Amino acid sequence: MSFSRTALRSASRSVFASAVRVKAPLRNATHARYNSSAPPPPPKNNSLIYAAVGVALLGGGYYYYTTNAVKPTPAAIPKPFVPTYEDYKKVYSKIADTLEAGDYDDGSYGPVLIRLAWHASGTYDAKTNTGGSSGATMRFLPESGHGANNGLDVARKVLEPIHAEFPWISYGDLWTLGGVCAVQELGGPTIKWRPGRADAEASACTPDGRLPDGAKGSDHIRDIFYRMGFNDQEIVALVGAHALGRCHPDRSGFDGPWTFAPTYLTNDFYTLLLNDKWHWKKWNGPAQFEDDKTKSLMMLPADMALVKDKNFKKYVETYAKSQDAFFEDFSKAFGKLLELGVSFKPGQESWEFPTTS
Ligand code: HEM
Repeated sequence: MSFSRTALRSASRSVFASAVRVKAPLRNATHARYNSSAPPPPPKNNSLIYAAVGVALLGGGYYYYTTNAVKPTPAAIPKPFVPTYEDYKKVYSKIADTLEAGDYDDGSYGPVLIRLAWHASGTYDAKTNTGGSSGATMRFLPESGHGANNGLDVARKVLEPIHAEFPWISYGDLWTLGGVCAVQELGGPTIKWRPGRADAEASACTPDGRLPDGAKGSDHIRDIFYRMGFNDQEIVALVGAHALGRCHPDRSGFDGPWTFAPTYLTNDFYTLLLNDKWHWKKWNGPAQFEDDKTKSLMMLPADMALVKDKNFKKYVETYAKSQDAFFEDFSKAFGKLLELGVSFKPGQESWEFPTTS
């Protein structure tokens, strides 16, 4: 027999109402034993009674569960991990520890980490608000295969175990923090940094041609850096990073370091560019300059454009005269570069990490 509406309605009243209904037939039966002339009891409707009891029990159980059941304490509910300054500081320290691991190049992964941070950020296009360090799309083809990014797999591989140890950090944050750490640990200025870059899919890869070509001159350099939103002074300050590292024939085709101390950030790039004599290198590689005196240093045609162009040259002179001025402007321009196109939380503060060495 199916439940009638009446049955359900009455069942839902309460446990007591059900109890009364159960007692009623019993009373009738007792009455019949003493009074045989009494009319026969009405037919029993057991199904109705069972339904009422069942629903009442269910209701009671539900009431008990919702009021008395043990509920998980707030502490038992897993919260998403929200990294703090201290967590990022651990990542910074880990990168710093890794810089001199192995016997790489001139003794440090620092320069190639700076180049990774710069190439991840320097794809930014202010007009379309595309590219930049948010996304870390250089993990994917075609961007990882762009000629300008040759050799940056070395830097990405160095940071991979650190990402495995701190999997909560985005690649964009890790790569830019790598650049910050390398600049500071190689004797450069403190760089303000904050997290907030989200990793993107391969579909967000930027088109080839957004990074500068070392074989070209001042018009090209301005096209590239103005597109990101930099001015002439910032351009000259940024290229001062060429005090570090070297060119590799199997990467860019160019060869050699810019300075005698390629793992130590100084204003030497400007003093050498301005004060040394430079001539075209005679070799089978792409056109580049070498210094008259030792023939062991190099300048790219793009570097040389910084002294050929009048407006660029005045900043080269400023930075050749004062390393402090260079450090101050480099710190600001590099910090800005790493944040191009990144959306931070409103009012999100910038951090500084103490240099470990
Ligand atoms: C006109 C702009 C620039 C041009 C044409 C340019 C070009 C190049 C080239 C051709 C190399 C050699 C890559 C190799 O063979 O391994 C290189 C290396 C490097 N660049 Fe630039 N660059 C420019 C701006 C910058 C900026 C803005 C930074 C950083 C703020 C930077 C940091 C570096 C570093 C640190 C290296 C050495 C990498 C290593 O040792 O592996 N460059 N650059």
